[in-house]
Amino acid sequence: MCGIFAYCNYLREKDRKTICEVLCNGLARQEYRGYDSAGIGIDGDKPGEVYYFKEVGKVAGLRKKIADSTMDTSKTFLSQVSIAHTRWATHGPPSTVNCHPLRSDPNSEFIVVHNGIVTNSVALRTVLQKRGYAFESETDTEAVAILSKYVYDTQPAMKKSFTELVKTVLRELEGSFAFVFKSSHFPNEIVTARRGSPLLIGVKTEKKLKVDFVDVEISGPKDTTETLSPASSTAGGLLAPPTASHSIARSQSRAFMSEDGMPQPIEFFVASDAAAIIEHTKRVLYLEDDDIAHISEGELHIHRFRRAEEGNITPSQAAATRSIETLEIELAEIMKGKFDHFMQKEIYEQPESVVNTMRGRVNFDTNAITLGGLRAYLPIIRRGRRIVFSACGTSYHSCLATRAIFEELTEIPASIELASDFLDRKTPIFRDDVCVFVSQSGETADTILAMRYCLERGALCVGVVNTVGSTISRETHCGIHINAGPEIGVASTKAYTSQYIALLMMALQLSEDRISLTPRRNQIIQGLLALPAQIKKVLDLDKSLQELANTSLSNQRSLLIMGRGYQHATCLEGALKIKEISYLHSEGILAGELKHGPLALIDENMPVIIVMTRDSLFAKVESAFAQITARKAAPVVICNDDDDSKFLKHVKTIRVPKTIDCLQGLLNIIPLQLLSYHLAVKNGFDVDFPRNLAKSVTTE
Ligand code: F6R
Repeated sequence: MCGIFAYCNYLREKDRKTICEVLCNGLARQEYRGYDSAGIGIDGDKPGEVYYFKEVGKVAGLRKKIADSTMDTSKTFLSQVSIAHTRWATHGPPSTVNCHPLRSDPNSEFIVVHNGIVTNSVALRTVLQKRGYAFESETDTEAVAILSKYVYDTQPAMKKSFTELVKTVLRELEGSFAFVFKSSHFPNEIVTARRGSPLLIGVKTEKKLKVDFVDVEISGPKDTTETLSPASSTAGGLLAPPTASHSIARSQSRAFMSEDGMPQPIEFFVASDAAAIIEHTKRVLYLEDDDIAHISEGELHIHRFRRAEEGNITPSQAAATRSIETLEIELAEIMKGKFDHFMQKEIYEQPESVVNTMRGRVNFDTNAITLGGLRAYLPIIRRGRRIVFSACGTSYHSCLATRAIFEELTEIPASIELASDFLDRKTPIFRDDVCVFVSQSGETADTILAMRYCLERGALCVGVVNTVGSTISRETHCGIHINAGPEIGVASTKAYTSQYIALLMMALQLSEDRISLTPRRNQIIQGLLALPAQIKKVLDLDKSLQELANTSLSNQRSLLIMGRGYQHATCLEGALKIKEISYLHSEGILAGELKHGPLALIDENMPVIIVMTRDSLFAKVESAFAQITARKAAPVVICNDDDDSKFLKHVKTIRVPKTIDCLQGLLNIIPLQLLSYHLAVKNGFDVDFPRNLAKSVTTE
């Protein structure tokens, strides 16, 4: 949902060519977040001047536009700040006019890049237009740039401090955002802030830095300065005549500077995702919601722009300090290597990614599970009256895939919720509920809102995420990192199998005191041991799946995938993969529901895949097979490699190794991932960037 990027070099000379390259690389690494258009804003030749480059489509187009321009790329800057954006359109179609950075006026007094949605932008726009400010684009973001200019024009006190000005603007906004602001009035300064959208800052310097460089006071002594009334949904706050004076809690921050306090060459990289920073530095600082960071003269200051009493503040936001963390990902992990697409690479990584999920957690000699991130909370979870899982898309499917084994092992009732629906229903949540939030990115807006809803109601909140440092990982009480490594392809693959294993490990750990279940637990753990080699065997089917995509499934308009029990989730997830990247309508069907409606779709022209690996429900799926073949369907059957059933001789089969019932879905999903990949490639679709989608859905 949009990627933002900013680059500041201080006392370290860079030419324009390098600056543009840094910006475009930063965008390219975040392209999965949105690829409708891309743009940059860099310093021009005259003081205060900004050169914009904007292009509809992907970053490659933007690079070309820059290369084809007549701009003097050899011009150097000892210090500068520049900003960039890759867009997933929400307000206004993809076009160069709607492309970020958005400016306040033709002189670019304020320019802004934004990830998120400002929900009161229409009200702001109306009031600002009435006051004579002209808009160029249809975006919500432009209102923020123009509001900045309005504050500057009308509030003399704001001319002195970029941070105070942005704070004032932010207090007028509703919705979710991560912003970077640049201004001709504050040359070489940048202000960046977040509420609800991810944001981090990378720091690159040779000198040693002070350790306790940031000190954020959340609800400190009140300023004596008179400020304006707070925001309201009708934009009546700042834009209404000042009424009662209203004081903002003073935020304190200490400078981020070298130990000896001397000016030093330093570079800062602001981004939505660590992937955009890793090639420059591994030292990063994650901003919390309502943090505002000011970079100027080689120093970074962190402030808060919301008072504690203005709303619930999570423990991570309330922490008095923000600390520098070291990224653990390597550049190679976010490169495609020998593969044509990230999705293909990520499918092929699964033999290793599942091992990484289990590493240090599963002891195959003693059949023991140790999830360090949950250990202290196990008694509370066991005492919980129920477990509520909330997630979206593929992450939701991983919860569905493991619900039966979770309930079997823990005997705790489990409900699975689509995060958006959970919120729409205002589901009752109590203090003795355990709420688990599963998310690859840890930044999905619906899941974050569901998490905050449960935090407010006092439930124990557990995060199961892939992205270290993400909002869900920081704001939940405890959790599991699935350690699948960066997932860049928009279609989630390796995260699914790792989430599946993480949830399974959670169930195994919770049930460790149930002696009667020891044989079952041991069987599952030994099944996990064999899994990586079995995944490799499934990957060997790649050629035959490519052939299937190019022959019988080629040029179809629809595809049904059916199964039941553990395999229902496989069908839903397989269908989601196929529809999202190959644009072929595909539906996952619970085989038990066939006769209640979907059977009407079946005839000799309807392509069907049926999952018939052996488990206790095999006989029932066999009956579904009989029902559809009686209606002339010619299904492709996913079955076990040693299954010699006679009826399989007359149908196309995809044969996968046999494992324990609750693990079989981990193997069965892989042919469907590969099939979706080949269907998309065959049709010439952009596998890693499916139309209309973005990897990280940070808006509701
Ligand atoms: C499908 C897919 C999406 C995500 C969903 C949740 O391939 O990637 O359905 O699973 O948007 O995203 P996370 O897991 O990041 O919360």
